[in-house]
Amino acid sequence: MFITISEALKQGQGNVELRGWVHRERKSKNKVFIVLRDHTDIIQCVVSEDADKQVWEDANKVLIESSLKLSGEIKKDERAPTGYEVHVKNLELVQIAERFPITKDQSPEFLLDIRHLWLRSQKMTHILKVRATAFKALREFFDKQGYYEFTAPMFTPNACEGGATLFEVKYFDTKVYLTQTWQLYAEAAIFALEKIFTVSPCFRSEKSKTSRHLAEFWMAEVETAWMDLEGLEKQAEDLVSYVVQKVVQDNSKELIALGQDVEKLKKIKAPFPRITYEEALKMLQEDGVKIKFGKDLRTVEEDKLMTHFSTPIIVTNYPKEIMAFYKPEDPKNPKTALCFDMLAPEGYGEIIGGSQRSLDVEDMKKKLAKDGEKVETYDWYFDTRRYGSVPHAGFGMGMERVIAWICKLDNIKDAIPFPRTMLRFKP
Ligand code: 4AD
Ligand code: MG
Repeated sequence: MFITISEALKQGQGNVELRGWVHRERKSKNKVFIVLRDHTDIIQCVVSEDADKQVWEDANKVLIESSLKLSGEIKKDERAPTGYEVHVKNLELVQIAERFPITKDQSPEFLLDIRHLWLRSQKMTHILKVRATAFKALREFFDKQGYYEFTAPMFTPNACEGGATLFEVKYFDTKVYLTQTWQLYAEAAIFALEKIFTVSPCFRSEKSKTSRHLAEFWMAEVETAWMDLEGLEKQAEDLVSYVVQKVVQDNSKELIALGQDVEKLKKIKAPFPRITYEEALKMLQEDGVKIKFGKDLRTVEEDKLMTHFSTPIIVTNYPKEIMAFYKPEDPKNPKTALCFDMLAPEGYGEIIGGSQRSLDVEDMKKKLAKDGEKVETYDWYFDTRRYGSVPHAGFGMGMERVIAWICKLDNIKDAIPFPRTMLRFKP
């Protein structure tokens, strides 16, 4: 019976039957070393010349990424990469791979061109496992609080986060857009379900070539009836703490292999520091940054600000003027909106954006018109404010930003299996 490599390592002795792919191979005169890989781990397997003749001949044919089945005795061996070695008795080649195009020291661009094969690398496998845990964790988090998973359409007639980043799609005889966020639909659905979340693709034609922007990314979003900004901030920090601690618990091996400091991540626990936008400006000005009220924080300013913090922080009350149409004014500080961004440390930037939602239809219409949007296409959305409107709030968390931060990645492109950016839509 086949067992996984990690089960074999746990077993540590006796006979094992394994299957997988050749991660590395080295042939000498009387031995063939095969480092076998499956989804759980790698293990060194050795075939000697005095094995069965067919086994020896087949072992000499293997190239990197060949698929095979083998069995033999597992023994402790300090020199082997994972501390054990299998002395192969039987070997069955499933497919002899052609010469694998990925060799040492390839450029990041080449690895992106050949992403369909690079996915098998140890690095990508570690990241994909962390990604799967993060998705599982967020569903668990909301499930425990009695939230419903709700899905919104990907084709939409509306912008929500501004027209500049919309992807236009030919839709039969007319044009629609790919969704930037589920938000407008979520705001309609809370009148039925009250507490909802999703995790889904979002599309933005980001023209900036940064290490933080993708054209297609996944956003975890939540929308809750009767919730205010304070409750929303708490929910956001609890969610981030939950996801990070779940990854630490399930994937510390992967995190270490990726060069992340697990002890540092263990300290990422709510509550996170809270500052207002105006306090952030003051801190930046003290650092010598020339920025005035009314300017959004750009990457450079976020990075500068985060040199003061080692955990995520919550920045509230951005200027109302530059915020999306649905963010309401803060009655206590009318030049600002009841909104927040969560910024991650170490240069990973904004991981969450959220707000209370405006209930003032006239104010929203005015803002949309000012932003050059077609106000009449939002009429269906304003119905949500016409029939039993209630205070509500929600946020969106960029999954790839969070994964890049947790895994300490240089570029957001490695946080998603097949990245889509302005310059890349293949393979
Ligand atoms: O701040 P954003 O634009 O907020 C919204 O879309 C709200 N409608 C969400 C809501 O309230 N339901 O986006 C939310 C998050 C950002 O904080 C960022 O982490 C991520 O989505 N994000 C991107 N991630 C990767 N590539 C991009 N181009 C991104 N744009 C936003
Ligand atoms: Mg934002």
